[in-house]
Amino acid sequence: MTEGRLFEDVDTYINSLFAVEDAVLTRAVERSTAAGLPEIQLSPGQAKLIYLLAKMIGAKRMLEVGTLGGYSTVWLGRALPDDGELISIELDPGHAKVARETLVDAGLDKTCRIIEGRGLDVMNTLTPHFDMVFLDANKDGYPAYLKQAIRLVRPGGLIVADNVVREGAVLEPSKVDPNAIGAAAFNQALASHPQLEAIVLQQVGIKGHDGLAVARVKDD
Ligand code: DHB
Ligand code: MG
Repeated sequence: MTEGRLFEDVDTYINSLFAVEDAVLTRAVERSTAAGLPEIQLSPGQAKLIYLLAKMIGAKRMLEVGTLGGYSTVWLGRALPDDGELISIELDPGHAKVARETLVDAGLDKTCRIIEGRGLDVMNTLTPHFDMVFLDANKDGYPAYLKQAIRLVRPGGLIVADNVVREGAVLEPSKVDPNAIGAAAFNQALASHPQLEAIVLQQVGIKGHDGLAVARVKDD
């Protein structure tokens, strides 16, 4: 598709202007690839966006669900002040190992901690208040993660979620995979929750066609 090529080229152009990877991030991607992890980490531009969101609200305490190889973890960790804290939950011990190496390489292993386990199990053990929760794990779990995120995020804080469009599969979720069903249910809950104000940003580019949800917990 011609548009696909153009969308990728423009994304690459944007990334080269606004989200240039340094050696740590380049090594993070190489480390993940070498370990055989799926190449489904955020694009540089997507990562820059969540980094900016964290900085805009002055986030000091953050939670990530779905560490993978730690690429987005580094971006989020870099948005934190020195006395900040990021907890990232990862189910796969192999992924967690790679991510821990990346956090050491990034000099973020003091502020960023990976907890191995199921997203929901670990979220259940956490106490408020988080400034921001970033969901990027199994999409069929998103509706349950959302309930926990609402419990954990402070008023005025953010809930951000990757992969909520799935190439449009959320339009007809009954005909497709459990991830699309989960993402569609998540979007519905996000849109109708009385404590939230939210939007989904449709995204196209080097990671294909998907979307990022951004929700703010009301403080009134
Ligand atoms: C998948 C997961 C992701 O978080 C992503 O950004 C892209 C794809 C997946 O499981 O297929
Ligand atoms: Mg994702």
